Amino acid sequence: MSRVLVINGPNLNLLGEREPDIYGRETLSDINTQMLALANELGVELDSYQSNIEGELINKIQQVNGKYDGLIINPAAFTHYSIAIRDALAVLKVPVIEVHLSNIYAREEFRHHSVIAPVVTGQISGLGSYGYLAALRTVKKLLTR
Ligand code: DQA
Repeated sequence: MSRVLVINGPNLNLLGEREPDIYGRETLSDINTQMLALANELGVELDSYQSNIEGELINKIQQVNGKYDGLIINPAAFTHYSIAIRDALAVLKVPVIEVHLSNIYAREEFRHHSVIAPVVTGQISGLGSYGYLAALRTVKKLLTR
């Protein structure tokens, strides 16, 4: 069975109460529940991890090679400036999908640039929580090919 990890970065633990007009009213736990149901349907083993701390996210990314077959990551604000997270992702040998709930290109200018995008397989931005489900389906498809 394929193993997929979902990593969520800073402030995503506050989903549901955090700027709901931008990020929606679902909590991270609601999203994880939907992802687990889909993982079950697709025959994928899914683990999820959230941290507000850059180094902890990097430690988790470093565990991916050898342990997981795919990674779905919303690096949140680190998307826009963390070269350290980008460098950790660049080492991975598995498909990596970058997810953003909001359309980062339709927001403030400082969100238009992702330092992560050049080192991932693909990016989903602006589909709300469905983006995570689309990412999981995509990883499954890439692993089945
Ligand atoms: C985000 C977009 C980022 O710009 C922001 O800092 C976040 C969430 C998103 O999911 O839309 O924290 O990654």
